Amino acid sequence: MQAIRWDESMSTGVDSLDSQHKQLIAWLNDLLEAMSLGRGRAEIDSLLNQLGGYAALHFDNEEACFEKYKCPYAAQNIEAHKHFVATFQALRDEFDRDGTSSHLVVRVESELMRWLGGHIKRTDTHLKPCVRPD
Ligand SMILES: [Fe+2]
Repeated sequence: MQAIRWDESMSTGVDSLDSQHKQLIAWLNDLLEAMSLGRGRAEIDSLLNQLGGYAALHFDNEEACFEKYKCPYAAQNIEAHKHFVATFQALRDEFDRDGTSSHLVVRVESELMRWLGGHIKRTDTHLKPCVRPD
C-alpha cells in the first residue's frame, strides 16, 4: 500500500481548494489503511461516507472556481469528477455487497488514490495560471 502526500506540484493557486485536496488525500490514506488492516465494516462505512460527502462538496467548490476564473479546462474537469463519482459509487456498492476484499483494496488504491493524485497534478493545476486576485 502506497500512501500519497500533497506537495507544491499539486498547488491550484486557490488556498481553500488546496486545503480540501489535503483533506481528501488524508481521508483516502485513512480509508486505504483501514481496509488494508482489515478494520470492521462500521469503521470503513463511516470513512466512505465521510470521503464521499466531502468529495462531492469539494468538486462543487472547485468547479465553481474553474467557472469563476474562466479556466479552459472547466469542462474536462467536470467530466473527470463525474468519472470519480461513478467509480466511487461502484466501489461503494462493491463494499456494501462483499465487504473489504483484496480486490477492493487494489481498486481503491489505483482508481481513487492514484487517480486523485494524477487528476490534481494534470487537471486541477491548470487553474493556477487563470486565478486573478478578487
Ligand atoms: Fe478537479
